[in-house]
Amino acid sequence: MTPPEIHGYAIVSRDDRIADAKGLMPASLKNDADWAYFQAELGRADYVVIGRASHEATPNIKRRKRIVLSRSARRLEKRADAWWWNPLELGFEELAKALAPAARIAVPGGQAAFDMFLKIGYSAFHLSRAERIALPAGRGLFSSCETGVAAETVLKEAGLHAGPTLDIDPQAGVTLTLWRPAA
Ligand SMILES: NC(=O)c1ccc[n+]([C@@H]2O[C@H](COP(=O)([O-])OP(=O)(O)OC[C@H]3O[C@@H](n4cnc5c(N)ncnc54)[C@H](OP(=O)(O)O)[C@@H]3O)[C@@H](O)[C@H]2O)c1
Repeated sequence: MTPPEIHGYAIVSRDDRIADAKGLMPASLKNDADWAYFQAELGRADYVVIGRASHEATPNIKRRKRIVLSRSARRLEKRADAWWWNPLELGFEELAKALAPAARIAVPGGQAAFDMFLKIGYSAFHLSRAERIALPAGRGLFSSCETGVAAETVLKEAGLHAGPTLDIDPQAGVTLTLWRPAA
């Protein structure tokens, strides 16, 4: 079985935060150009693996195949709104077998999902940044970002390399950088 590609997606503030100090994604972090890119990318994925809090914060309007990360799930279980997955009870390899022949999995966060897939290995991490926004004491992209480690350092330590940074919305100061493993 060919393992699925794993693609991470986030938009962060200039201080590497995905949400504010209350754990909510502020309007200042929402950007139309990033949203259009993100939605097109999700459309290319066979499954979307998402943290329980993020699942609840973003209704699945497009009815994509979601897998919700939660300790409340028993292994991998079908609920009315999605598949629910507990990685403590069913490892990723077993999940991938259950999803075969999935070619691509999208990981739109939150922090727990981003941290977990760092260890499993990203095929690509699509990192958008709202360069003018700061969210002090907000939710870090990765848990170590909350202890002062830059997201770039975390991605590099995971073996990923940055491609060119694109100005996807110059007026709003939003950029996009694609991180990939060395060829
Ligand atoms: N800017 C961005 O790109 C971006 C991306 C994603 C999310 N967000 C925002 O960030 C906020 C939520 O993010 P978050 O990081 O606080 O939460 P999250 O990762 O979406 O969800 C956290 C939940 O995931 C489950 N979980 C965590 N670790 C687990 C593990 N090892 N095994 C099984 N389940 C596990 C737990 O659910 P149970 O309590 O059910 O066990 C936990 O409460 C929302 O406001 C969202 O809109 C922003």
